[in-house]
Amino acid sequence: MKYQAVILDLDGVICFTDHYHYLAWKKIADDLETYFDEKINNRLRGVSRMESLEIILENFHGTLSEEEKYALAERKNEEYKRFLGQMTEKDLSLEVKAVLDELRGRGLKLAIGSSSKNAKFILERLGLKDYFDAVSDGTNISKSKPDPEVFLKAAEFLSIPPDKSLVVEDAKAGIQAAKSGGFDAAGLGEAGEDKMADYALKSFKELLKIMI
Ligand code: BG6
Ligand code: MG
Repeated sequence: MKYQAVILDLDGVICFTDHYHYLAWKKIADDLETYFDEKINNRLRGVSRMESLEIILENFHGTLSEEEKYALAERKNEEYKRFLGQMTEKDLSLEVKAVLDELRGRGLKLAIGSSSKNAKFILERLGLKDYFDAVSDGTNISKSKPDPEVFLKAAEFLSIPPDKSLVVEDAKAGIQAAKSGGFDAAGLGEAGEDKMADYALKSFKELLKIMI
C-alpha cells in the first residue's frame, strides 16, 4: 500500500462545525458593527482563532488593543463552545464513521491534524475520544496552517514519515500545509479544486478508492 497513515483535519472533514464558527464570529462582528458573511467565514478554515479575528477585523473601522482582541477571541470561543456543548454522537455521520472503521480495518494508522484548541472536546462530543492513534491540534503547535507544523507533529506522534501519510483537508490553507510538509493531500469539496491537491474528493467515502 502506498500509505501507512491518514491524517485527517477535523472541522469540515470529520464534522461540520464550520457553521458554529460562523454563528459565533457573526455575533462578535455584529457587536463591532463589522461586515461578516459566509464567504469571509470560508477564509477562516484551518486558520487559528487569533488569525481568524484579524481577517474579520479587515472590515472594522477603528483600532483595538491586544487585550481587547484577546477578549473578543475569548468571547467568540465561549459562544462557539455553547454550540459544541449541544453536539452528540449523532453529529458524527454514519458515512464518516464507516469509512474510518474500514481504513482502520485495512491496517492504516489514523490521526487528527487540526488547528483547533477545541479538538479534543469535539472528539469527546462525537464519541471519538480514544478512537484515533494520535491527535495533533491547536494545543501542540505554535504556527497554524498553512504552516505544516500540525501535520508534521501528527506524523511524529504516529512515527510514520510524511511521504507515507495522506492528509485529508477541506481548506486550501490545509492543502498548502500538507504539501509544504512533504505529504500527499486529498481535498474535500472546494479544497479538491486547489492545484496543489493530489486528489479531489467529492465525498468522504471516495477516500476508500485512494487507499487500496
Ligand atoms: C480550525 C477551523 O479547525 O480551527 C478554524 O477551521 C478555526 O476556522 C481554528 O479558527 C481554531 O479553532 P479554535 O476551536 O481553537 O478556536
Ligand atoms: Mg477544516
